[in-house]
Amino acid sequence: MDGAHERVRAATAYICAHTEHRPSIGLILGSGLGTLAKRLTAPDIIRYDEIPHFPRSTVAGHAGQLVIGTLAGAQVLVMQGRVHYYEGYSPAQITFPVRVMHLLGVRTLIVTNAAGSLRSDLAPGDLMAIKDHLNLPGLAGHHPLRGSNDDAFGPRFPSMSQVYDPELLTILHQEAKRQGVALKEGTYVMVAGPSFETPAEVRFLRSTGADAVGMSTVPEAVVARQGGMRVLGISLISNVAADSLRKEPVEATHEKVQEVGETMTPILGALIEGTVARLT
Ligand code: HPA
Repeated sequence: MDGAHERVRAATAYICAHTEHRPSIGLILGSGLGTLAKRLTAPDIIRYDEIPHFPRSTVAGHAGQLVIGTLAGAQVLVMQGRVHYYEGYSPAQITFPVRVMHLLGVRTLIVTNAAGSLRSDLAPGDLMAIKDHLNLPGLAGHHPLRGSNDDAFGPRFPSMSQVYDPELLTILHQEAKRQGVALKEGTYVMVAGPSFETPAEVRFLRSTGADAVGMSTVPEAVVARQGGMRVLGISLISNVAADSLRKEPVEATHEKVQEVGETMTPILGALIEGTVARLT
Protein backbone atom coordinates (compact mmCIF):
# COMPACT_ATOMS: atom_id res chain seq x y z
CA MET A 1 0.00 0.00 0.00
CA ASP A 2 1.67 3.16 -1.17
CA GLY A 3 1.44 6.02 1.29
CA ALA A 4 0.01 3.66 3.88
CA HIS A 5 2.32 4.94 6.56
CA GLU A 6 1.27 8.55 5.92
CA ARG A 7 -2.40 7.57 6.23
CA VAL A 8 -1.72 5.75 9.49
CA ARG A 9 0.17 8.80 10.75
CA ALA A 10 -2.69 11.15 9.83
CA ALA A 11 -5.26 9.00 11.66
CA THR A 12 -2.97 8.68 14.68
CA ALA A 13 -2.38 12.43 14.81
CA TYR A 14 -6.14 13.06 14.72
CA ILE A 15 -6.72 10.69 17.63
CA CYS A 16 -3.85 12.17 19.66
CA ALA A 17 -5.35 15.63 19.17
CA HIS A 18 -8.74 14.46 20.50
CA THR A 19 -7.71 12.62 23.64
CA GLU A 20 -5.09 12.98 26.33
CA HIS A 21 -5.11 9.25 26.98
CA ARG A 22 -2.15 7.31 25.62
CA PRO A 23 -3.44 3.72 25.49
CA SER A 24 -1.13 0.72 25.76
CA ILE A 25 -3.90 -1.86 25.42
CA GLY A 26 -6.29 -2.09 22.47
CA LEU A 27 -9.60 -3.92 22.43
CA ILE A 28 -11.59 -4.88 19.35
CA LEU A 29 -15.12 -5.91 20.21
CA GLY A 30 -17.31 -8.19 18.13
CA SER A 31 -21.02 -8.50 17.40
CA GLY A 32 -23.19 -7.55 20.36
CA LEU A 33 -20.13 -7.17 22.60
CA GLY A 34 -19.60 -3.44 22.24
CA THR A 35 -21.19 -2.45 25.54
CA LEU A 36 -17.96 -3.42 27.27
CA ALA A 37 -16.84 0.10 26.39
CA LYS A 38 -19.24 1.40 29.08
CA ARG A 39 -16.81 0.14 31.73
CA LEU A 40 -14.21 2.74 30.82
CA THR A 41 -13.73 5.77 33.06
CA ALA A 42 -13.06 9.26 31.70
CA PRO A 43 -13.82 8.09 28.17
CA ASP A 44 -13.14 10.15 25.07
CA ILE A 45 -15.29 9.05 22.15
CA ILE A 46 -14.19 9.48 18.56
CA ARG A 47 -16.44 8.32 15.74
CA TYR A 48 -14.77 6.35 12.94
CA ASP A 49 -16.19 8.71 10.31
CA GLU A 50 -14.31 11.65 11.87
CA ILE A 51 -10.92 9.98 11.68
CA PRO A 52 -8.96 10.42 8.44
CA HIS A 53 -8.82 7.21 6.34
CA PHE A 54 -10.58 5.13 9.00
CA PRO A 55 -12.95 2.41 7.71
CA ARG A 56 -16.61 2.63 8.72
CA SER A 57 -18.67 -0.26 10.04
CA THR A 58 -21.87 -0.90 8.09
CA VAL A 59 -23.22 -3.76 10.22
CA ALA A 60 -26.07 -3.60 12.74
CA GLY A 61 -24.74 -4.07 16.28
CA HIS A 62 -21.39 -2.43 15.49
CA ALA A 63 -21.39 1.13 16.83
CA GLY A 64 -18.41 2.46 14.88
CA GLN A 65 -16.51 4.53 17.40
CA LEU A 66 -13.33 4.53 19.41
CA VAL A 67 -13.73 4.79 23.15
CA ILE A 68 -10.47 5.72 24.86
CA GLY A 69 -10.19 5.80 28.61
CA THR A 70 -9.12 3.92 31.73
CA LEU A 71 -10.01 0.33 32.54
CA ALA A 72 -8.72 -1.35 35.69
CA GLY A 73 -5.95 1.24 35.96
CA ALA A 74 -4.78 0.87 32.36
CA GLN A 75 -5.15 3.27 29.49
CA VAL A 76 -7.12 1.41 26.86
CA LEU A 77 -8.53 2.06 23.45
CA VAL A 78 -11.73 0.22 22.57
CA MET A 79 -12.90 -0.24 19.01
CA GLN A 80 -16.63 -0.39 19.53
CA GLY A 81 -17.54 -2.12 16.31
CA ARG A 82 -15.16 -3.40 13.66
CA VAL A 83 -15.23 -3.69 9.92
CA HIS A 84 -15.27 -7.01 8.12
CA TYR A 85 -13.99 -8.41 4.87
CA TYR A 86 -17.55 -9.20 3.76
CA GLU A 87 -18.47 -5.51 3.92
CA GLY A 88 -16.25 -5.02 0.89
CA TYR A 89 -13.13 -3.77 2.62
CA SER A 90 -9.76 -5.18 1.65
CA PRO A 91 -7.82 -7.07 4.33
CA ALA A 92 -5.43 -4.09 4.45
CA GLN A 93 -8.31 -1.67 5.11
CA ILE A 94 -9.76 -3.90 7.83
CA THR A 95 -6.46 -3.83 9.65
CA PHE A 96 -5.77 -0.11 9.26
CA PRO A 97 -7.01 0.55 12.83
CA VAL A 98 -4.48 -1.98 14.17
CA ARG A 99 -1.67 -0.04 12.47
CA VAL A 100 -3.03 3.13 14.05
CA MET A 101 -3.16 1.49 17.47
CA HIS A 102 0.44 0.40 17.08
CA LEU A 103 1.57 3.92 16.24
CA LEU A 104 -0.41 5.21 19.23
CA GLY A 105 1.67 2.95 21.47
CA VAL A 106 -0.69 0.00 21.89
CA ARG A 107 1.39 -3.12 22.54
CA THR A 108 -1.28 -5.57 23.67
CA LEU A 109 -4.31 -6.31 21.52
CA ILE A 110 -7.37 -8.07 22.93
CA VAL A 111 -9.83 -9.23 20.26
CA THR A 112 -13.27 -10.67 20.81
CA ASN A 113 -15.71 -12.13 18.34
CA ALA A 114 -18.88 -14.12 18.02
CA ALA A 115 -18.31 -17.55 16.50
CA GLY A 116 -20.15 -20.69 15.49
CA SER A 117 -19.23 -23.93 17.24
CA LEU A 118 -17.71 -26.76 15.24
CA ARG A 119 -17.23 -28.99 18.28
CA SER A 120 -19.82 -30.90 20.28
CA ASP A 121 -18.59 -29.61 23.65
CA LEU A 122 -18.77 -25.95 22.64
CA ALA A 123 -22.30 -24.63 23.15
CA PRO A 124 -23.94 -21.24 22.64
CA GLY A 125 -22.90 -18.97 25.52
CA ASP A 126 -19.52 -20.68 25.97
CA LEU A 127 -16.32 -18.67 25.92
CA MET A 128 -13.34 -20.01 23.99
CA ALA A 129 -9.84 -18.62 24.34
CA ILE A 130 -8.25 -18.64 20.90
CA LYS A 131 -5.11 -20.75 20.91
CA ASP A 132 -4.40 -20.64 17.19
CA HIS A 133 -6.14 -19.75 13.97
CA LEU A 134 -6.66 -20.82 10.39
CA ASN A 135 -6.54 -17.92 7.99
CA LEU A 136 -8.67 -19.36 5.17
CA PRO A 137 -9.04 -16.12 3.19
CA GLY A 138 -5.34 -15.43 3.76
CA LEU A 139 -4.30 -18.87 2.54
CA ALA A 140 -6.39 -18.23 -0.57
CA GLY A 141 -4.59 -14.94 -1.25
CA HIS A 142 -6.80 -12.42 0.57
CA HIS A 143 -4.07 -11.58 3.03
CA PRO A 144 -3.66 -8.29 4.90
CA LEU A 145 0.09 -8.22 4.21
CA ARG A 146 -0.22 -8.82 0.46
CA GLY A 147 1.42 -6.09 -1.58
CA SER A 148 4.53 -4.02 -1.07
CA ASN A 149 5.80 -4.16 2.48
CA ASP A 150 6.62 -1.06 4.47
CA ASP A 151 9.43 -2.08 6.82
CA ALA A 152 8.18 0.51 9.31
CA PHE A 153 5.21 -1.80 9.91
CA GLY A 154 7.26 -4.96 10.40
CA PRO A 155 9.01 -7.73 8.48
CA ARG A 156 8.02 -8.92 4.99
CA PHE A 157 7.72 -12.53 6.15
CA PRO A 158 6.57 -12.40 9.77
CA SER A 159 6.39 -15.63 11.74
CA MET A 160 2.91 -16.77 12.76
CA SER A 161 4.17 -19.68 14.85
CA GLN A 162 2.71 -18.12 17.99
CA VAL A 163 0.03 -15.56 17.20
CA TYR A 164 -1.82 -15.80 20.51
CA ASP A 165 0.48 -14.98 23.39
CA PRO A 166 0.91 -17.97 25.74
CA GLU A 167 1.53 -15.75 28.76
CA LEU A 168 -1.66 -13.76 28.11
CA LEU A 169 -3.55 -17.03 27.69
CA THR A 170 -2.30 -18.22 31.07
CA ILE A 171 -3.32 -14.93 32.69
CA LEU A 172 -6.76 -15.15 31.08
CA HIS A 173 -7.25 -18.70 32.37
CA GLN A 174 -6.13 -17.66 35.86
CA GLU A 175 -8.61 -14.79 35.88
CA ALA A 176 -11.43 -17.00 34.53
CA LYS A 177 -10.75 -19.47 37.31
CA ARG A 178 -10.79 -16.73 39.94
CA GLN A 179 -14.13 -15.45 38.64
CA GLY A 180 -15.58 -18.95 38.32
CA VAL A 181 -16.10 -18.49 34.58
CA ALA A 182 -15.82 -21.60 32.42
CA LEU A 183 -13.29 -20.92 29.67
CA LYS A 184 -12.56 -23.36 26.90
CA GLU A 185 -9.74 -23.17 24.40
CA GLY A 186 -9.52 -23.88 20.70
CA THR A 187 -8.63 -22.98 17.14
CA TYR A 188 -10.60 -20.31 15.30
CA VAL A 189 -11.08 -20.51 11.56
CA MET A 190 -11.87 -17.39 9.59
CA VAL A 191 -14.21 -17.57 6.62
CA ALA A 192 -14.97 -14.62 4.37
CA GLY A 193 -18.77 -14.66 4.88
CA PRO A 194 -21.28 -13.10 4.78
CA SER A 195 -23.37 -16.24 4.23
CA PHE A 196 -23.30 -18.76 7.02
CA GLU A 197 -21.91 -22.19 6.17
CA THR A 198 -23.61 -25.08 4.45
CA PRO A 199 -23.54 -28.46 6.24
CA ALA A 200 -20.88 -29.62 3.77
CA GLU A 201 -18.76 -26.59 4.55
CA VAL A 202 -19.15 -27.26 8.26
CA ARG A 203 -17.93 -30.83 7.75
CA PHE A 204 -14.98 -29.47 5.78
CA LEU A 205 -14.14 -26.92 8.50
CA ARG A 206 -14.33 -29.62 11.18
CA SER A 207 -11.90 -31.74 9.19
CA THR A 208 -9.36 -28.90 9.31
CA GLY A 209 -9.17 -29.26 13.08
CA ALA A 210 -10.83 -25.92 13.78
CA ASP A 211 -13.13 -25.60 16.80
CA ALA A 212 -15.02 -22.40 16.02
CA VAL A 213 -15.79 -20.44 12.86
CA GLY A 214 -16.24 -16.73 12.34
CA MET A 215 -15.81 -13.86 9.90
CA SER A 216 -13.28 -11.63 11.64
CA THR A 217 -10.30 -11.37 14.00
CA VAL A 218 -7.64 -13.15 11.94
CA PRO A 219 -6.51 -10.22 9.75
CA GLU A 220 -6.23 -8.00 12.82
CA ALA A 221 -4.25 -10.64 14.72
CA VAL A 222 -1.86 -11.15 11.79
CA VAL A 223 -1.14 -7.44 11.43
CA ALA A 224 -0.74 -7.02 15.18
CA ARG A 225 1.83 -9.82 15.20
CA GLN A 226 3.70 -8.34 12.26
CA GLY A 227 4.03 -5.19 14.35
CA GLY A 228 5.24 -7.18 17.36
CA MET A 229 2.11 -6.70 19.47
CA ARG A 230 0.96 -9.37 21.93
CA VAL A 231 -2.44 -10.77 21.02
CA LEU A 232 -5.20 -12.29 23.13
CA GLY A 233 -8.33 -13.58 21.40
CA ILE A 234 -11.64 -14.70 22.87
CA SER A 235 -14.57 -16.17 20.96
CA LEU A 236 -18.06 -16.12 22.33
CA ILE A 237 -19.89 -19.10 20.91
CA SER A 238 -23.18 -17.70 19.67
CA ASN A 239 -24.55 -20.68 17.76
CA VAL A 240 -23.79 -24.15 16.51
CA ALA A 241 -22.56 -24.03 12.92
CA ALA A 242 -25.09 -25.58 10.51
CA ASP A 243 -25.28 -29.34 10.80
CA SER A 244 -27.71 -31.35 8.71
CA LEU A 245 -27.28 -34.36 11.01
CA ARG A 246 -29.01 -32.62 13.90
CA LYS A 247 -32.64 -33.46 14.49
CA GLU A 248 -33.41 -29.83 15.19
CA PRO A 249 -31.11 -27.69 13.08
CA VAL A 250 -29.80 -24.65 14.94
CA GLU A 251 -29.89 -21.88 12.37
CA ALA A 252 -27.28 -19.17 12.72
CA THR A 253 -28.81 -15.74 12.30
CA HIS A 254 -27.29 -12.33 12.85
CA GLU A 255 -29.97 -11.59 15.47
CA LYS A 256 -29.10 -14.75 17.37
CA VAL A 257 -25.41 -13.86 17.28
CA GLN A 258 -26.17 -10.40 18.70
CA GLU A 259 -28.56 -11.73 21.31
CA VAL A 260 -26.02 -14.16 22.77
CA GLY A 261 -23.44 -11.36 22.69
CA GLU A 262 -25.66 -9.05 24.68
CA THR A 263 -26.45 -11.73 27.27
CA MET A 264 -22.80 -12.62 27.74
CA THR A 265 -21.36 -9.09 27.64
CA PRO A 266 -21.35 -8.59 31.44
CA ILE A 267 -19.49 -11.88 31.98
CA LEU A 268 -17.02 -11.33 29.18
CA GLY A 269 -16.60 -7.71 30.26
CA ALA A 270 -15.72 -8.68 33.82
CA LEU A 271 -13.31 -11.31 32.53
CA ILE A 272 -11.53 -8.82 30.29
CA GLU A 273 -11.44 -6.17 33.00
CA GLY A 274 -9.92 -8.65 35.46
CA THR A 275 -7.39 -9.74 32.88
CA VAL A 276 -6.41 -6.13 32.12
CA ALA A 277 -6.01 -5.54 35.87
CA ARG A 278 -3.48 -8.38 35.97
CA LEU A 279 -1.51 -6.79 33.13
CA THR A 280 -1.02 -3.47 34.89
N1 HPA B 1 -20.39 -19.00 11.04
C1 HPA B 1 -19.61 -17.97 10.67
N2 HPA B 1 -19.48 -16.87 11.38
C2 HPA B 1 -20.17 -16.78 12.53
C3 HPA B 1 -21.00 -17.82 12.98
C4 HPA B 1 -21.12 -18.99 12.18
O1 HPA B 1 -21.84 -19.95 12.51
N3 HPA B 1 -21.54 -17.41 14.16
C5 HPA B 1 -21.03 -16.18 14.42
N4 HPA B 1 -20.20 -15.79 13.44
